Amino acid sequence: MSKTLINTFAQKLIAWHGVSGRSGLPWQGNRDPYAVWVSEIMLQQTQVATVLERYPRFMKRFPTVKKLAAADVDEVLAEWAGLGYYSRARNLHACAKQVMTEFGGQFPSDPLLLEQLKGIGRSTAGAIAAFAFHERAPILDANVKRILARLFAIDGAIQDKGINDRLWALAIDLLPNKPADMPVYTQALMDFGATWCTSRKPVCLGAEKKCPFTKDCQANLSDQVLLLPQKVKKAKSPEFDCNMLLMRCGNSVLLQKRPSKAIWGGLWSLPEGPWIPRASIAQAAEIGSPELFAATLPNEKGAVLTKACTSIKRLEEIKHVFTHRRLWMQIWQASSAKELTFLNPDLRWVPLSQLGRYGLPQPIKLLLQGLSLVRGDDLKNSAANS
Ligand code: ADE
Repeated sequence: MSKTLINTFAQKLIAWHGVSGRSGLPWQGNRDPYAVWVSEIMLQQTQVATVLERYPRFMKRFPTVKKLAAADVDEVLAEWAGLGYYSRARNLHACAKQVMTEFGGQFPSDPLLLEQLKGIGRSTAGAIAAFAFHERAPILDANVKRILARLFAIDGAIQDKGINDRLWALAIDLLPNKPADMPVYTQALMDFGATWCTSRKPVCLGAEKKCPFTKDCQANLSDQVLLLPQKVKKAKSPEFDCNMLLMRCGNSVLLQKRPSKAIWGGLWSLPEGPWIPRASIAQAAEIGSPELFAATLPNEKGAVLTKACTSIKRLEEIKHVFTHRRLWMQIWQASSAKELTFLNPDLRWVPLSQLGRYGLPQPIKLLLQGLSLVRGDDLKNSAANS
């Protein structure tokens, strides 16, 4: 391992940031750990351009950890709508409560304590500790792993425990000596990975910009930049079919709150039947109303439903790609003359004009919009995806 690189890396990177890093973003230069934490969670899996729009809105709605903890989780999910990966929103809410009850409303500065909080992993704990408290705590997200695997030519799958431990050890060795440098250093590392040492088009392989580490980077020196870090081979995600019920009554639609641990956990969606592996059926089969109700509303009185809903219409089939699976949703529309009552308390008739108050999965929101069931502004706040 190169001793010179270890000793010079932080200062070189900070100098790089002064010229080519991102600055002036609304969450930068803020030492309020609450503000830093919200921005870090939002920036995970979400483009900076989207966060630029949504972060100020979130902070306006929930300006303090106390206000966030006191909110209903549904309000938080509705505010998060459109940002995807809803476990982040549920964890934000749970974490805010934890900070109130376990830490008297003050975020701890110790990364080990931060890591105990809901939804905060080791790297996010490091980022919060560095930005808000100037702690010499390392970060190691996917971008940083790529930078380090290249600089030190670390060969091997980065999800292997041994490789991961080596990367963390390096991340610690490379930290700047002065705590006051931690915010700019941490931001520089994130920016360098996101914009220069990118996965497919690192600047060292182009002609326009000169990477400050060309002479230090082991991957560059040995012509292995695109080979490192070793790519993880992903299995093709499995496909499923399910039936979904779009039950309407006048200007209301029947929604069901999803269990918090499931996909789209805590969001309001259409009642849905079981997921069936797609390979087992060639095409979504025709279905009669008794079967449809038995599948989508299994604990309700099927005979009552069948009698109340006269026409069942097959609408479109929607494909939705999740991180680890693909789902084909067959939508069936039914109309009922009166708002039936249900045993399941998670079922609710929702007037179309109030849909904006509910966090809806993105494809369901688009479906309702496409059917012109809802005006755009009714759903303004309920854009959601996974
Ligand atoms: N991704 C995660 N945290 C970030 C930050 N502070 N700035 C830019 N991208 C990020």
